[in-house]
Amino acid sequence: MATTTSRSCLQYLLHLAQDNLDFRLPEIKALLALRGKPFLPDANFKEKSPFWCLDGLCEEDVRGIMARSVCAKSALELWGHGKSHSELKTSLLNYPSANMLPFMQKDSTYRINVYTFNKTLEMADRIKRIDSLEYLPFEGTVSLKSPEHIFCLLEDYGTDPNNIPEHPDYIYFGRWIVDGQRELIRSHSVKSRHFIGNTSMDAGLSFIMANQAKVKENDLVFDPFVGTGSLLVACSQFGAYVCGTDIDYNTIHGKGRSSRKNQKWRGPDENIRANLRQYGTEKMYLDVMVSDAAKPVWREAELFDAIITDPPYGIRESTRRTGSHKDITKPPDGIYAESHVPVSQAYHLSDIFTDLLHFSAHHLVMGGRLVYWLPVHRPEYCEEMLPLHPSLQLISNCEQTLSSHTSRRLITMEKIKKPEELEGLAHLTDPRFCPYQGHNAFREKYFSGVNKRCGKDEEKSDVSGE
Ligand SMILES: C[S@@+](CC[C@H](N)C(=O)[O-])C[C@H]1O[C@@H](n2cnc3c(N)ncnc32)[C@H](O)[C@@H]1O
Repeated sequence: MATTTSRSCLQYLLHLAQDNLDFRLPEIKALLALRGKPFLPDANFKEKSPFWCLDGLCEEDVRGIMARSVCAKSALELWGHGKSHSELKTSLLNYPSANMLPFMQKDSTYRINVYTFNKTLEMADRIKRIDSLEYLPFEGTVSLKSPEHIFCLLEDYGTDPNNIPEHPDYIYFGRWIVDGQRELIRSHSVKSRHFIGNTSMDAGLSFIMANQAKVKENDLVFDPFVGTGSLLVACSQFGAYVCGTDIDYNTIHGKGRSSRKNQKWRGPDENIRANLRQYGTEKMYLDVMVSDAAKPVWREAELFDAIITDPPYGIRESTRRTGSHKDITKPPDGIYAESHVPVSQAYHLSDIFTDLLHFSAHHLVMGGRLVYWLPVHRPEYCEEMLPLHPSLQLISNCEQTLSSHTSRRLITMEKIKKPEELEGLAHLTDPRFCPYQGHNAFREKYFSGVNKRCGKDEEKSDVSGE
């Protein structure tokens, strides 16, 4: 790898968390895109590695990404790296001293942290590692408690816990700049959330969705299947105005049975507004209302900067939409009058996604993003199954495995052109645009017994969809 030669072309190292692996690249790419920056990894880039070296950025870019990322733990200004400690030494001695010296002055304080990935080091070995860096021109005083500058030595022992090498595969050294937003996962955990339901979206995934949607300050974000508003909570945290709809009156009005253990009914203030209040973002709450996503109530306009949602998958009950006069069919057994209007009827999964894409193509601003979950039966899944729309470009498609045979895929699409009148109508019947023929078969497959390989826990896994 080329050594950096001036502060204007520094290399930065991201230290990523080893969960939600599939979601990390789309998150970081989206956050870079928000700043108008491309993703430029170095030649050694491995997507599954916890360490990524990035080029073409300045410290402000790195701070901007880390102010949003829940996939990245921390970021360093990379000073040196190599396959062994002697390669690291050569690399560090070649690093321009003009880049280092401002952080090594006599009157400064510093600390060196040692991190190892896939191996635990004894304290004595950590100290040895620190002592071995004596060739670096540290002039300042060590302060373990409140140092002005923190330096990190990171040793990567690969990703196979059953085959841990004696020596690290790769070593990095650099100046710590900033941590990511992993703390949001704990502070916004649904376990301590005021208003929750059976399908409340996990905090980490909600923030990942908001990041992939490139949600930014003063955006207007809409969730058509809002439930308890977990996605609105995440988007409001990033400064967006939020609103949503749900077919369920009780959910929207915070009434009915509670999802909490030891509590039969929801309390008087268990609603989405109270959730935002809990996190100090109530001022970003516009409103939510009872509405059927199959019959959107919005005027024809490019209203939303992002549409971010978790539609029902029909796991806990079959998916429903409201009935209408158009749905009147002659009852076979003559029980109902011919004018009977059904209160609700099946809402096939394929229709849910076709409607969602159609709605997004019409109501997103140009460049706005749709981020949603698509349930799939893994043995049958192929990329050709993804719902398409001529106005929406696929940006990313990440899998979260739910069981041996089922998963849900987080789909991110961006509006690239206005829908044309005819295209808008054609896509409803054209199989090229709605190849996802899941109907309610996902539900049948989920319950067909093929999921039980891992026993009961797997049946209970958070499938979120209903
Ligand atoms: C998976 S849940 C959403 C959970 C939500 N993300 C949360 O964090 O609480 C799906 C939601 O879609 C709603 N829903 C089902 N059919 C609908 C329809 N036809 N129109 C609007 N909402 C619907 C359900 O009432 C449910 O609240």
